[in-house]
Amino acid sequence: MERQRDIFGFLIILLIFLAACTPMLNPPPPATPAPQPTVTPVPSTPTPSPVPTATRTPSPTLAPGVSLRTLAEAQNVYIGAAVAAGPLQDEPIYGETLAREFNMLTAENVMKFESVHPDPKTYSFSAADALVDFAEEHAMQVRGHTLVWHNQLPPWVIEKKWERDELSKVLEDHISTVVGRYRGRVVAWDVVNEAIDDNGSLRQTVWLEGIGPDYIELAFQAAHEADPEALLFYNDYNGEGLGRKSDAIYELVQDLVQRGVPIHGVGLQMHVSVGRHPLPEKVAANIQRLSALGLKVHITEMDVRIESPTTETDLARQAQIYGEMLHVCLAAPSCEAFVLWGFTDRYSWIPDVFYGWNDALIFDPSYQPKPAYYALLGELAEK
Ligand code: XIL
Repeated sequence: MERQRDIFGFLIILLIFLAACTPMLNPPPPATPAPQPTVTPVPSTPTPSPVPTATRTPSPTLAPGVSLRTLAEAQNVYIGAAVAAGPLQDEPIYGETLAREFNMLTAENVMKFESVHPDPKTYSFSAADALVDFAEEHAMQVRGHTLVWHNQLPPWVIEKKWERDELSKVLEDHISTVVGRYRGRVVAWDVVNEAIDDNGSLRQTVWLEGIGPDYIELAFQAAHEADPEALLFYNDYNGEGLGRKSDAIYELVQDLVQRGVPIHGVGLQMHVSVGRHPLPEKVAANIQRLSALGLKVHITEMDVRIESPTTETDLARQAQIYGEMLHVCLAAPSCEAFVLWGFTDRYSWIPDVFYGWNDALIFDPSYQPKPAYYALLGELAEK
């Protein structure tokens, strides 16, 4: 009863807020697929400035106890964010905001190959363990990211000329060790990440060169053996709507499904910008065809970048895009998780990789909710 009153109160506030925003909204720009640079990993070494204490109180416009998380849990969906291990350890408001607003997290970097397996015989799990512990302490689910990728590999993997059997053994050992360590604690793994290039062909990677195209099924088999309960995903960017790349992803996963390879879902990364993003109806159609294969869909890495300087209009458009994509996900029974690539503009990969772009997330650098936050809240309250 009290919960209903809270939600009702919140809806009123939301309506007022949206009415106030309406003049800022422009018609959405034409959607074209976003070109994605080849991402060279940039070590993230943010130098945080102190968080002003005045900003630590929750926004007064929200009814007490209402958050993305509480509304998502009432709908039985996951709302998540990628987590940077440094601020989680060093900045209490980071973890407080994370646990208040989200019920799922992804490791932004600390489960990647170079982090957990820096030398052939050395595994290093302390940072990843801390993250999984945090999730469990706060009753959050973990998405494991990622087992097979061409980026953030240690030199020992990249620099050697491998025999096929030798490299297959490396990959199997890596996957069974990492997945086995978190068996029963990671609800879903991004088993293979970004294996398709922008032309729709299999990307030239150390894995493809050393093992051949069946490295993909080998990876899914090894992950399934190590944790038969975990949901196993293929994850990629620029394949959210309909087009050459999403067709290639569809064909790849269709083939895996038909051959009985243990794959359970597709992750749509959704790194988009205010000017270039897929049309919601195309994303809905793509989710629909993937679901028809019996696969789940997770939105795995959403952010909506803005070219500097950020204007009020940009923030309103950004809010609209976040809201539309969550709307599409909530409308599809197979879309059970909506995960952002971070949550505060204080810590985001965007300015490091897309020079001149910024402000891609839903909280500002002082942890204040942006219009995009209220757009997500509105969608979750409405469903
Ligand atoms: C990014 C991280 O956010 C950065 O900190 C890191 O330097 C490079 O990788 N697609 C993915 C993610 O699957 O793993 C990438 O994360 C962003 C693009």
